Amino acid sequence: MKRAAALAVFLAAAASAAFGDPLEQARRRWAESPHGEMLERILPPTVAPERLPEPQSAGARLLVRYCVQCHHLPNPAMHEARRWPPVVERMVLRMRGKGNLGPLMADLMAGVASPSDEEKAQLLAYLRRHALAPLDPRRVPEVAAPSAEAFRLACSQCHALPDPARYRAEEWPRVVARMQENMEWMNRVIGTQPARGEPQLRVADILAFLSRYARREPRAR
Ligand code: HEC
Ligand code: HEC
Repeated sequence: MKRAAALAVFLAAAASAAFGDPLEQARRRWAESPHGEMLERILPPTVAPERLPEPQSAGARLLVRYCVQCHHLPNPAMHEARRWPPVVERMVLRMRGKGNLGPLMADLMAGVASPSDEEKAQLLAYLRRHALAPLDPRRVPEVAAPSAEAFRLACSQCHALPDPARYRAEEWPRVVARMQENMEWMNRVIGTQPARGEPQLRVADILAFLSRYARREPRAR
């Protein structure tokens, strides 16, 4: 789906949600702040609230209440379970006005709500329950080999290396294409234009590696 279309769907869905309108607030921040562009680009607009796992659960509601105040909605599947606690800790400090990025955040943070300790625990449990399944190097020792270099370099920039068995071989190209869009959105190395000294995104090598360990049977869910 095109970014603009995805964003429109996402914004419409979020705007119609029943819990006040944190996303509307975020949009105002992005429009008014000189740092708006930076905030908007922190996370891509890839997950709409109603596409979250267990969208009616307390955890999902808290995510939609607190985690779109500054950037797009985080996908619980972005990080492995053990990575979420430090991320949430950093975000909650920020919401409570004690984050790094001092003056920048002080400007922007007027009116930001922060979760109670109990809500924070619920949020964390939710994120961990639906976290990314990381690659297990004992099961896939090839991950350390030169043949996996393209995958290792490209796919560890933002989160843990994902378990190739998450998808079937024919499903991976779509996911990798979305990650390329994420890289553009988040201004990470993409290297699709040959430039001297810049690492290239070797999609064919990445897909070849993923296919070797991809899920064979149809997905359970
Ligand atoms: C007060 C503003 C603010 C709120 C609210 C906020 N974030 Fe963030 N978030 C940021 C900023 C600024 C960054 C970029 C700097 C950084 O990574 O610390 C960021 C980056 C991120 C990233 C990408 C960086 C990484 O480590 O993967 C994730 C994921 C994230 N936030 C998740 C969350 C979650 C989950 C919540 C709700 C519990 C949340 N954020 C609420 C300001 C916020
Ligand atoms: C620029 C940062 C970035 C890079 C680099 C990146 N990802 Fe991601 N990845 C994300 C973000 C953001 C999410 C959550 C939003 C989403 O799912 O689009 C995510 C989520 C995922 C997920 C879980 C969601 C799902 O649909 O299953 C998988 C699997 C994944 N990435 C695979 C990869 C692979 C394979 C690569 C290397 C080609 C890669 N990622 C490189 C940012 C990145």
